[in-house]
Amino acid sequence: MCGIIAYVGPDAALPKLIEGLRRLEYRGYDSAGVALIADDDLWIRKDTGRVAALAAQVEGGPTAQTGIAHTRWATHGGISLDNAHPHVDAKSRIAVVHNGIVENMTALVGMLKEEGVTFTSETDTEVIPHLVRRHYDGDPVAAVREALQHVRGTFGVAVAFADHPELLVAARNGSPLVIGVGDGENIIASDPQAVVAHTRQVVYMQDGEMAVITADSVKVQKLTTGVKIQSEVATIEGDYGPAEMEGYPHFMLKEIFEQPRSIRRCLRGRIQLREGNAKLGGLNMDPRDIVATNRVINLGCGTSYHAGMAGAMAVEALARIPARAEIASEFRYRHPIVPRDAMFFAISQSGETADTLGAIHEVQTKGGQVMGCVNVVGSTIARTCGRGVYVHSGPEIAVASTKAFTSQVSALLVFTLMLARTRNLSLQQGREMAAELEAMPDKVARYLENPGPIDEAVAAVTDARYVLFLGRGYSYPVALEGALKLKEIAYIPCEAYPSGEMKHGPIAMLDEGAPVIAVTPQDSQREKAISNMKEVEARGARLIVIHTEGDEEMEALADVSIPVPAVADYASPLITVLPLQLLAYKAGLALERDIDKPRNLAKSVTVE
Ligand code: F6R
Repeated sequence: MCGIIAYVGPDAALPKLIEGLRRLEYRGYDSAGVALIADDDLWIRKDTGRVAALAAQVEGGPTAQTGIAHTRWATHGGISLDNAHPHVDAKSRIAVVHNGIVENMTALVGMLKEEGVTFTSETDTEVIPHLVRRHYDGDPVAAVREALQHVRGTFGVAVAFADHPELLVAARNGSPLVIGVGDGENIIASDPQAVVAHTRQVVYMQDGEMAVITADSVKVQKLTTGVKIQSEVATIEGDYGPAEMEGYPHFMLKEIFEQPRSIRRCLRGRIQLREGNAKLGGLNMDPRDIVATNRVINLGCGTSYHAGMAGAMAVEALARIPARAEIASEFRYRHPIVPRDAMFFAISQSGETADTLGAIHEVQTKGGQVMGCVNVVGSTIARTCGRGVYVHSGPEIAVASTKAFTSQVSALLVFTLMLARTRNLSLQQGREMAAELEAMPDKVARYLENPGPIDEAVAAVTDARYVLFLGRGYSYPVALEGALKLKEIAYIPCEAYPSGEMKHGPIAMLDEGAPVIAVTPQDSQREKAISNMKEVEARGARLIVIHTEGDEEMEALADVSIPVPAVADYASPLITVLPLQLLAYKAGLALERDIDKPRNLAKSVTVE
């Protein structure tokens, strides 16, 4: 997590660093800080508020032309000024910003303390400036190289030396870093979004690399040996324009209501109505490769994992090949089997999630094929996979993922159609599925025009001690997603269970009036779902039911009835998730939560 930005060039660095931090704030917003090399000294300012607070504090600051800055998501050490970056050596001549985790922190702190170093923070990062100082004899590059040989763990770092205002040193191992190559200026950043206002030419640093940047040069070398590396300069593609709220009070609400458009963007040019088929050019697969795929495994975290679950169910049901979703952080560490005939999808909005990236590496190490299913164009996951499908949701700014979920599910359904047509799906069935997918943006729009009594549902959950979400089949990942949203935005204790599993334990949690949210569209599981709801009703729980329009039996069972348009089973997650997104948003609002930046979270999770 954490965002890094560093500038060296002819202009005042401070405004550029603050602007970069604003663009990186989605990576963490526990504190922010900046260090400039001004009058041969380090000028450092920090704030435990948001970037806006730091910006106000540094207004009118020095016009120095070299500096580094950081926006933090706390890992080691609480949210305090001492723990905010940049961190400095004992002489306050070397400043470091860091994204990642120093895993051997304890040993390094012990070693440095024995050598007489005093620590002023609880962070793992602080060992780095002290180590650099330990190896510094006037050569900044050699000092950083030698210092980082001691560090085990992950890092993207930028280092500034008061003695060397003409340069900055960066190094990467496991945490993303790009260098924006400008005209007489160069910028180091955690991701391309932070440099695109200045240049579209970038060098993507690789693990084990270090770079020395001045205003006119970018020199990349191997971190361990210093051997020069000829890096490729890539052009940033995609829309990184600043996202606007378009009159909505929060990005989350805007992104919820944007879903008819974002799903349409994801489907555009990919559905072949007449052929009853679909095309995903980025997979670069001909029908023979598709036929050779005998298994699909979706990898992801959080919301992306839920999308992967829904996608895997569709593949199994329609293409009739084994498919499953795996939580990336679990998958990578259990020495998984990578079947030769499997196609893996790495699903990620940001394209930077460390756990998903780790799972990709595990599959690739074992000779497997991983396709990206990513939103952010040019992100690390997209580049690491090399092939895949962009979901084209457009920039998602709110920390809680909404439109990315529906775009990911849409993309996986397009893939399912393609796969199923090489096997089980007839031309006629293919045409029906293609038409259903094409109709989804309008159905989503129709629901959003009249979302039903969400406020009644909000009233039922805001004071609740516990909320239970239930769903079967395709509705189970939706129930999980609804519970995740309510937790992260409203901080209401809740969990999601497969409806049939409830009687094996969680039903004990229910007492008179406890809210139970049942996701029960008219699908093949409906009859069974009704039985489960009766069981809940018998315990006096308050039933909030998301069901298909016109389903009178469901309406009669519900204390709060939220009807949604009728859709095919496999497409139901695209519709049933919408009321749950709105419920979380409105519950967060009622409880006066920080909707777009909920506590303890960050948009891009680049640590394990
Ligand atoms: C939930 C949420 C997270 C992300 C997860 C994966 O609203 O945003 O659970 O879905 O951190 O992130 P990506 O999709 O960027 O890999």
